[in-house]
Amino acid sequence: MTYASLQTLKANRWKSAAKFVTLFVAAAMAAAILGGEPFHSMSYSQAKALGDNCIACHQKQNGVEIKLYSNSTHAQSGVACNSCHGGDSSAADKKRAHGANLIARPDANNILTMCGNCHSAQLAMFKTGRHFPERRGAPRLDCAQCHGAHTVGALNREFSFVYFCAGCHGLEYLPALPTEFQQMLALSDDLKDALRAIKDAGREPSNEVIQRRKEIRRLMSEIVHPTDLQGALQKIPQILKLGEALKQMIGREEGAPSKSVSKK
Ligand code: HEC
Ligand code: HEC
Ligand code: HEC
Ligand code: HEC
Ligand code: HEC
Repeated sequence: MTYASLQTLKANRWKSAAKFVTLFVAAAMAAAILGGEPFHSMSYSQAKALGDNCIACHQKQNGVEIKLYSNSTHAQSGVACNSCHGGDSSAADKKRAHGANLIARPDANNILTMCGNCHSAQLAMFKTGRHFPERRGAPRLDCAQCHGAHTVGALNREFSFVYFCAGCHGLEYLPALPTEFQQMLALSDDLKDALRAIKDAGREPSNEVIQRRKEIRRLMSEIVHPTDLQGALQKIPQILKLGEALKQMIGREEGAPSKSVSKK
């Protein structure tokens, strides 16, 4: 596909269902190319130093995405712009950098493919849930609506699971989620705030805290991704217990006298 034909496709993107199908095929091809790309294992500062052209040029545009992205878990784990969007980060001019395989404005299905390239287990679970009705052709929710696109894992992201889920569950057409379920979502929000407080105090959480947080995150995701309401009621008491213990541990670290110079 030529650059020009892709531009035309993009321009006509939402005009007809037939064009939509064509675009989806193009995006799936791009995703297949993406999937074969080696994982970019470098830090944000290394990427900058090595001249990642996506970052360098976008920084000069308005830098909005870069600013959001720099606080994300992905920036810290070396997931670069092109790991999600495709394109060629070694090219300095826009036309070549964007190239034919850039996924510029992903729709919900594109986002599932994009994130699922790396998080295949989460995608598989998500597809078994009620947020992914098979016959509808599009998910009710995509990964980025819950996690953000450029702010994934950022502690300063303004987002609350409790409020977000209540935006549909508990309104006229859907019953509210059970209380235990809401307590679990509140725990996720609380842990984010607590970890942010440690960072704001100029400290880094210990490895023990990070590991326990990861474990709780995984347990919650195994309930929320497949929308497993039945399993949830059995599993949540244990998660809340683990959460309470972790909150206390974080409280102690936040209150502890600073033992080392802050990293900043
Ligand atoms: C030399 C400058 C330059 C480079 C290099 C560059 N971009 Fe862009 N990019 C732009 C500009 C300018 C825009 C604004 C929209 C437009 O003109 O297409 C843009 C827009 C975008 C968009 C939004 C497109 C849309 O339709 O709204 C995405 C996504 C994007 N760039 C990703 C990337 C990625 C990923 C890379 C690296 C592989 C990259 N860019 C490299 C200049 C650049
Ligand atoms: C984890 C995957 C991921 C990474 C990494 C990522 N993006 Fe994105 N980006 C997305 C998604 C998803 C969207 C669509 C957002 C939406 O629809 O809400 C998007 C949208 C955009 C847009 C269009 C913005 C708009 O308002 O329409 C631009 C420009 C962009 N990204 C640039 C970048 C640049 C530059 C980088 C690297 C600093 C980057 N992205 C890294 C997933 C990513
Ligand atoms: C190129 C591979 C790659 C892609 C594409 C990707 N991720 Fe990630 N993601 C990672 C890595 C690596 C981590 C860090 C894992 C860790 O620390 O255990 C991560 C971490 C995460 C986390 C946990 C963050 C935290 O710290 O709380 C979430 C949630 C996540 N990704 C969601 C997404 C979403 C949503 C998308 C698509 C918009 C996406 N990822 C695309 C590789 C990827
Ligand atoms: C309805 C909201 C929602 C949607 C949609 C969603 N997630 Fe999640 N996800 C969660 C929650 C809640 C957690 C646990 C978060 C926490 O405690 O910080 C989580 C955790 C995760 C994690 C980290 C935990 C783990 O399993 O390692 C990853 C990675 C992740 N999600 C990826 C994805 C991907 C990829 C998609 C799209 C296929 C997706 N999520 C869609 C709500 C969602
Ligand atoms: C855009 C609206 C919307 C949002 C936001 C939303 N959901 Fe849902 N959810 C739905 C719909 C629609 C269903 C399907 C109901 C059905 O199949 O009867 C559903 C189903 C569920 C179910 C299964 C219920 C059952 O009876 O089996 C669970 C659990 C669930 N959602 C949890 C969540 C959580 C947790 C969040 C936030 C992280 C969330 N949802 C956010 C719309 C939403």
